[in-house]
Amino acid sequence: MLQRSGLKRKPPTTAALLVSTVLLMAALITYSSWIDTSGVFVENSTEKTNTIVVYKNRKWIHEDLRPWKTSGITRDMVERANGTATFHLVIKGGKAYVKSYRQAIQTRDVFTIWGILQLFRKYPGRLPDLEIMFDTEDRPVIKSREYRGPNATAPPPLFRYCGDKETLDIVFPDWSFWGCILKDIEQGNQKIKWIDREPYAYWKGNPFVAENRQELLKCNATEQQDWNARLFIQDWILEGQQGFKQSNVADQCMYRYKIYIEGYAWSVSEKYILACDSVTLMVQPQFYDFFMRNKQPVEHYWPIRNDDKCRSLKFAVDWGNNHKKKAHEIGKAGSSFMQEQLKMDYIYDYMYHLLNEYAKLLKFEPRIPEGSRELCSEVMACHAEGQKGRKKKFMMESLVKGPSVTNPCTLPPPYDRRALAAFVRRKNSSILQVKKWEKGYWQSLNKQH
Ligand SMILES: *[C@@H]1O[C@H](CO)[C@@H](O)[C@H](O)[C@H]1NC(C)=O
Ligand SMILES: *[C@@H]1O[C@H](CO)[C@@H](O)[C@H](O)[C@H]1NC(C)=O
Ligand SMILES: *[C@@H]1O[C@H](CO)[C@@H](O)[C@H](O)[C@H]1NC(C)=O
Ligand SMILES: *[C@@H]1O[C@H](CO)[C@@H](O)[C@H](O)[C@H]1NC(C)=O
Repeated sequence: MLQRSGLKRKPPTTAALLVSTVLLMAALITYSSWIDTSGVFVENSTEKTNTIVVYKNRKWIHEDLRPWKTSGITRDMVERANGTATFHLVIKGGKAYVKSYRQAIQTRDVFTIWGILQLFRKYPGRLPDLEIMFDTEDRPVIKSREYRGPNATAPPPLFRYCGDKETLDIVFPDWSFWGCILKDIEQGNQKIKWIDREPYAYWKGNPFVAENRQELLKCNATEQQDWNARLFIQDWILEGQQGFKQSNVADQCMYRYKIYIEGYAWSVSEKYILACDSVTLMVQPQFYDFFMRNKQPVEHYWPIRNDDKCRSLKFAVDWGNNHKKKAHEIGKAGSSFMQEQLKMDYIYDYMYHLLNEYAKLLKFEPRIPEGSRELCSEVMACHAEGQKGRKKKFMMESLVKGPSVTNPCTLPPPYDRRALAAFVRRKNSSILQVKKWEKGYWQSLNKQH
């Protein structure tokens, strides 16, 4: 339930409010003049530019497979990934086989395999023979520094849902029935106009999974200090009974800003967080999933320092409330990016291209492992048990009904080295720019005190 009542704190005295408002305005006027002319902004982020961004996102498939580009992938490399793998998936002669190694948390393996099966139904006979190892745990494990140097062995190719810059794990979409979620998001969007929302940064989640999040809680508003953040601990048990997804989406839409902060690794909730064109305030993340890498700070989200969260949040919200049009544009660009990115067709095509490119690198004949079972959508859906048949219902709703009449969209060529470097530089410089604004803002506030 929404804790709006929680926002009604004892108001500061009128005089104090007036003084601080005047100081704030002065500081913002000083900075906004050059904020607006800095050229960091990309004007009119329309759906069209987002379609291009989303298309370009597939370029990362090449980056993820780059470690094996010259060596290719041998059977030994694949098998060496068995140390942490949850399952071994084999596609052979248009059929899929799975050998499970260990139990996956939250039945993630079931849905990932289900997603791959739907891909089969969508593009029958189009997937090449291949063998992959998949790890459904949160954190990437293939450390790149262990595979450097002249005598280093080639890294084992291991699929998972997220990566970071220190590792070589191959990023695969965390398959969910995003079509359903998009509908929720659109409905949430229509509830309340951006301008009429609470002018604060909202976050609700589980702070106990990461120190980072516990630090964030210190930024919650108190009677002494308002960092412009409204933070809540998620009551999983209560909300589980009420259907937490809905409450999550609805809550996000009550505020102009929402905070994204990683938990133990990448956070699934990001998809909800990007709902309803509130501005995402993203605490500098370590991990990325399959769609995050093409998002640009200040264009799709506002970057928040990890090492100075409260002051960073305070500035971000003040800035946004004083540049409402720009802020709302960032929010809209972020949401429309997500809507493009979470279309099921897009996700299937990403999976398709990733598996295809991977298969091209294999230097051995895939074979069906001993102790594996053949997969089939109908059987899987029939055997799906769980909370009052919810899993089964979900599966039936997301079942791809028949082969696609269109081909997968094309895979863009790899980034050339220079374009990739330019892309990373642009990202870095936007983040740096925001840090500078922030610093200037705090310096001028302190001077005036
Ligand atoms: C943050 O503050 C609000 C109101 O000021 C309160 O309702 C909420 O419980 C606080 N959150 C935490 C995690 O303490
Ligand atoms: C994992 O791979 C290694 C090396 O290829 C092999 O010796 C070992 O038996 C494999 N373990 C399992 C559980 O398959
Ligand atoms: C690589 O192996 C060669 C031959 O075994 C050895 O002489 C050399 O010191 C090794 N280099 C490194 C960096 O370990
Ligand atoms: C971008 O920033 C990261 C981390 O701050 C740094 O490691 C990297 O070298 C930078 N890249 C470029 C191209 O500036």
